Amino acid sequence: MVKRYLTSNQGAPIVDDQHSLTVGERGPILLTDTVYLEKIAQFDRERIPERAFHAKGAGAFGYFVPYKSFASLTMADFLQDPEKVTPVFTRFSLAGGSLGGADTVRDVRGFAVKFYTEEGNYDLICNHIPVFPLRDPLQFPDFVHALKPDPVANIRGGPVAASRLWDFMSLRPESMNFLLYLFSDIGTVKSYRTIQGFGVNTYKWVNLCGEEVYIRYYWEPCEGVECIDSKMAAQLAGTDPDVASRDLFDTIAAGDCVEFEMRVQIIKSELECEQPFDILDSTLIWPEHMYPLIPVGRMVLNKNPENFFAEVEQSAFSPAAIVPGIAFSNDRILQGRIFPYADTQRYRIGTNFLELPVNMPRKPVDNKIQDGPMRSRYSTDIANYLPNTLSCGLPAEAPEKGNPPQECISGCVGRQEPAGDDYYQAGYKYRNMSEAEKEHLVSNIIESLSQADEPIQRRMIEHFMRTDNELGCRIAQRLNLTP
Ligand code: HEM
Repeated sequence: MVKRYLTSNQGAPIVDDQHSLTVGERGPILLTDTVYLEKIAQFDRERIPERAFHAKGAGAFGYFVPYKSFASLTMADFLQDPEKVTPVFTRFSLAGGSLGGADTVRDVRGFAVKFYTEEGNYDLICNHIPVFPLRDPLQFPDFVHALKPDPVANIRGGPVAASRLWDFMSLRPESMNFLLYLFSDIGTVKSYRTIQGFGVNTYKWVNLCGEEVYIRYYWEPCEGVECIDSKMAAQLAGTDPDVASRDLFDTIAAGDCVEFEMRVQIIKSELECEQPFDILDSTLIWPEHMYPLIPVGRMVLNKNPENFFAEVEQSAFSPAAIVPGIAFSNDRILQGRIFPYADTQRYRIGTNFLELPVNMPRKPVDNKIQDGPMRSRYSTDIANYLPNTLSCGLPAEAPEKGNPPQECISGCVGRQEPAGDDYYQAGYKYRNMSEAEKEHLVSNIIESLSQADEPIQRRMIEHFMRTDNELGCRIAQRLNLTP
């Protein structure tokens, strides 16, 4: 049997990695202590920057299988055949929380799925709230700044945090729908097994004939939806801050699976302009009674990561990672998401982040893009350019799929407010809540809004009134302010 002993990162044997090299028992440490220098230098570099948003998360591997062929709607390889099993990696996260934050606090949960398809990686990056607070991605950094701790004292919670959040939201009435979800009990959860996932943005599916439909994605947890109230959330934040991450890990470690059903809503592309609202507006839901949910397939998560840092912290998702059969719509928020994800990953992980096993496509990569820090994939072809005649490199032949759908667009260039001012769709959600849900919503809002400055409270009351008169009156009454 080969003898096992400690080695340096270079593979040389280490006899003692617990005592530094000193001059005598009480003398200084020598700079020639390569064992200490290597160990401490690596420690100094153990962290990579946390994600700018959705920093804390947990993940699991598994697979996806469609219920039937969706070839009439999309040419996406992983949706053609009910026998086809596509491996996936899914990361759940907290949007506003930093690494080390508590899992149960009021926040948006992220739900990002990477499909390792035979035609490249497809990342479907969802949230557990079906709408977004903004209609223009240029406002995204402002939104995140308002949500995160303040830049002066870096404190989460309390009057300054409440004033900052509600100040921003009160000046963005399109956020009302989002706020009603966030401040309902949906905003506090203790398990990732029982949250829904929503694509939020409008995508396109394209079939082999070039026909397009607009799509909105949903994940339905097979165990049903569960949330907790703010009291339980606060208690768990103190006693078991990693409860959701642990619940996911322990469930899978015990041999159980975590399952979600993918569903879609569909609108034919030629009917886009006949809808009663802008279907590209991600602050609005597509009401289920008008656009029924169609079951697509099942995702089963059944394998824990072997190492959190390697596989969860360094996992990298991007809405730009699409495959033939899936296309971007002109949803402005989606358009704004195409660039920044891989941009953060080049900064956070490094230029060659796609070479890490969790991010690497299963389909072999073939192009003339090369080099950069930590590159391990390389070509032995002398013709590292295109076109060339020196090698039989690409383009050997054009693939059958992969061209984006053709689109004819015209308009004046300018910085323009998106069409439509349907800010108060949230009233629909409020009126469909039970009395208990309404009461929780109001008290959750009061818990936070009561700490904000009065002029901000007054602005918010106006928006709540316009969302639903009863909701506005209840909030005004609890704040002792006349509407
Ligand atoms: C203006 C719109 C948006 C912008 C600019 C934006 C940008 C970003 C950025 C920069 C990250 C960090 C990526 C990283 O460091 O790895 C991120 C993470 C994330 N975003 Fe967005 N985002 C937007 C909207 C959305 C929407 C609408 C959703 C949900 C449908 C969403 C879901 C997520 C999730 C789940 C993550 C974490 C992904 C992971 O697990 O690594 N974002 N976003």
